[in-house]
Amino acid sequence: MNEPSITYCDPEACVAAGCVPTVCTGAGVPSNHVLFERSRRAIPGGVNSSIRAFKAVGGEPYVVARAEGATITDVEGTTYLDLVQSYGAVILGHAHPAITSAVSAAVGDGTSYGAPTPREMKLAEAIGARVPSCERVRLMNSGTEATSTAVRLARGVTGRDRIVTFAGNFHGATDALLVAGGSGVATLGLPGTAGVPDGAVAATIVAPYNEVPELDERVAAVIVEPIAANMGVVAPAPGFLAGLRAECDRVGALLIFDEVITGFRVGVGGAQAKYDVRPDLTCFGKVIGGGLPIGAVGGRVELMEHLSPLGPVFHAGTLAGNPIATAAGLAALDQLTPDVYIELMARARHLAATLRDACSSAGFVASFPVVGTLVGIVCGDHAGTVRNFDDAKRTDERAYAAFFQAMLAAGVAMAPGAYEAIFVGLAHTDTVLAAIADAAFEAASTVVAAASTEPGSTTLAP
Ligand SMILES: Cc1ncc(COP(=O)(O)O)c(C=O)c1O
Repeated sequence: MNEPSITYCDPEACVAAGCVPTVCTGAGVPSNHVLFERSRRAIPGGVNSSIRAFKAVGGEPYVVARAEGATITDVEGTTYLDLVQSYGAVILGHAHPAITSAVSAAVGDGTSYGAPTPREMKLAEAIGARVPSCERVRLMNSGTEATSTAVRLARGVTGRDRIVTFAGNFHGATDALLVAGGSGVATLGLPGTAGVPDGAVAATIVAPYNEVPELDERVAAVIVEPIAANMGVVAPAPGFLAGLRAECDRVGALLIFDEVITGFRVGVGGAQAKYDVRPDLTCFGKVIGGGLPIGAVGGRVELMEHLSPLGPVFHAGTLAGNPIATAAGLAALDQLTPDVYIELMARARHLAATLRDACSSAGFVASFPVVGTLVGIVCGDHAGTVRNFDDAKRTDERAYAAFFQAMLAAGVAMAPGAYEAIFVGLAHTDTVLAAIADAAFEAASTVVAAASTEPGSTTLAP
C-alpha cells in the first residue's frame, strides 16, 4: 500500500487546527469527532445516507479521508480492512488503477454536457451484451431512480396501478416501494417512512419473500431482489423466481428484477443468468458505475420504447449517462470477466468459512450464509434458517452491534447495520482474508467476554 498522500488544504489553518499530518482532510479539523460534529451542523444527522450514522450500532462514524484496495483510512489516520466497499458499488477494490485512470482520462474532456456521448452508448451496449434481457438500457443517476423509473414504466405499459413487492427487499428511497423494506428501513426499525402519503403506497402489496403470491389483472408489476441482500443475504428458494415469472405471465404483469446489488456482482449476467429466469425489466446501479453515481433500467425493446422520447412514460435527468460515471463503469465491466466471478465466489466461501470458524472458536453464535459472491451475517441462536424477513428479523441486533464495534476496534470495518451484506471484492486477497479472520476471532472473544456477564445472552455458544 502506498503511503497516504499529504494534501494540505490550507497549511497554516490545518496545522493550527491540529490536523493529522498524514491524512489532512481538507477541512482543517483534527478528529473524527470534531469533523462529524461539524457535519451535524451542516447536514441532517451528519450523514447523506441514513445507514451511515451508526444509529443502530452506537457511537459515531469514522470520517473517511481516503481508501485504497481493501483498506479505508479515516481522518485520524486509522486504517481499517473494509468489508463495506461502498455497499457493493466497489468490486475491484478502492482506487483501482483501471478506474482511477479511466476517470482521470475522462475528466479532462468535461464533466457533463447535457448531450449524448460515446461512452454512455458503449456502457448501454456493454450491459445489453452481458444481460440478454436488456435489449435497450436507459442510464440514470442511482438505483433509486432506476426502481422508481421501472415502476413508472411498468404502470405506463400495463395501464395498471398495483405493484407487488416483498418484505425485507429494499429498492432505495422510492416512495411506492418504501413499505416493509430491508436495509436502512429495517435497521432504523421503521415500518415505512413519514412523508409518504397513503396514496403513494395504496397500490403497493407486500408479500413474504420466497412465496409466490397469487396475482390478478390489477397488478402492473412484481419487483423483487432476485437474491435478497438487504435483510442479510437470502437465497431465492428453488422455484421462487420461476414461479414469479409464471404468475406474472398468467396475469400479464411485468416482472422486475432489482439487480442493483446482484447485477455484475454475482456473475456477468447477474442473478437472472444464475437462476435462468428472464425478467421483463432489470434495475441496475452500484457496480455499473465503478463506484461513481449511476443507475440503469434495461428491458425488452417494446417495453423500453414506452419511455420518453419514444413513448409516453417520462424520464429525464440532467446528469443521466454522466461521462465520468460511464467511463468508470466501462472500466469496471472490462475487468469483470467470468473468471473473476469464479475467484470472487471462492473468496466469499473462504471468508464465510473463516468467519464461522473464528466466531465458533470464540463461542460467539453467528452464521454466515453465502449466495454466489455475497456473504451475509445472522447473529444469535436463530441462525441458519433464514428464508424471509420474519426469519431475518430474529437476528440478534445487539449482538451484531457488539460484534461490529469489536471488529472496528480490531481493525475491520463492517456495515453499521445488522441487515447489510458483507461485500467481498478483488482487493480481498488471501492475506487480507486471513487478517479479517484473526480480527474476527479477537472481536468475537471480546463480545463473548462482555456477554458472559449478561444472563440469557444468545450470543454465547451453549
Ligand atoms: C437492491 C437495491 N435496490 C436499490 C437500491 C438503491 O440504490 P441507490 O442507493 O443507488 O439509490 C439499493 C441500495 O442499496 C439496493 O440495495
